[in-house]
Amino acid sequence: MSWEESTRQKMLNLKLPTDPRWVGIAEMQLEDILEDHAYCEQKAASSCISLILRYHDLDHLVDTLTPIVAEEWGHFERVMDQIRKRGLRFGKPRKDEYVVSLFEFMKSGGSRMHQLTENLLMNALIEARSCERFKLLAQNIADVELQKFYYELMISEAGHYVTFIELAKYYVGPEKVNARWQEWLNFEAEVLRKMSLRGDRMH
Ligand SMILES: [Fe+2]
Ligand SMILES: [Fe+2]
Repeated sequence: MSWEESTRQKMLNLKLPTDPRWVGIAEMQLEDILEDHAYCEQKAASSCISLILRYHDLDHLVDTLTPIVAEEWGHFERVMDQIRKRGLRFGKPRKDEYVVSLFEFMKSGGSRMHQLTENLLMNALIEARSCERFKLLAQNIADVELQKFYYELMISEAGHYVTFIELAKYYVGPEKVNARWQEWLNFEAEVLRKMSLRGDRMH
């Protein structure tokens, strides 16, 4: 069994495992990784806030996402603690190539519920990939404190991944979600395949 096959079973349905070289390069660029990670957490919180504002009339969505905003902001705070205690830089946000590419796949138009599904599935995908990368960091980097930190975040993001998928199923039904989810997974694998391997980004 190739490393791709053996890893695939353990990674939340993602179609392409992260290149095993990534974690080694990332570890050498921890300052960039932590900085990028802080912005990932900020974007996760912001994205949930946007959904709450846009779909304020969907009680179940609002009540489900409200605590996730707090959790993501808690993650941001924890990453910032790591940055501060290590005396690292917290610079301005950089273009997130990965997220920009995923946005391009989002189908515009259609019903409001269709738009919601697209949004939830894109969020689920980012959670799944983050979870996979956190797991790699937790298992491979030398810093024991960061191993534990990334392990805890991995568990949390895995929960969010499930929540986003469940929310989409709640509003539009499992058939539609399952079919479109496969398309998202395939597209995401293509995005990663085309992106150059770099250790200064979480994705
Ligand atoms: Fe998070
Ligand atoms: Fe998350």
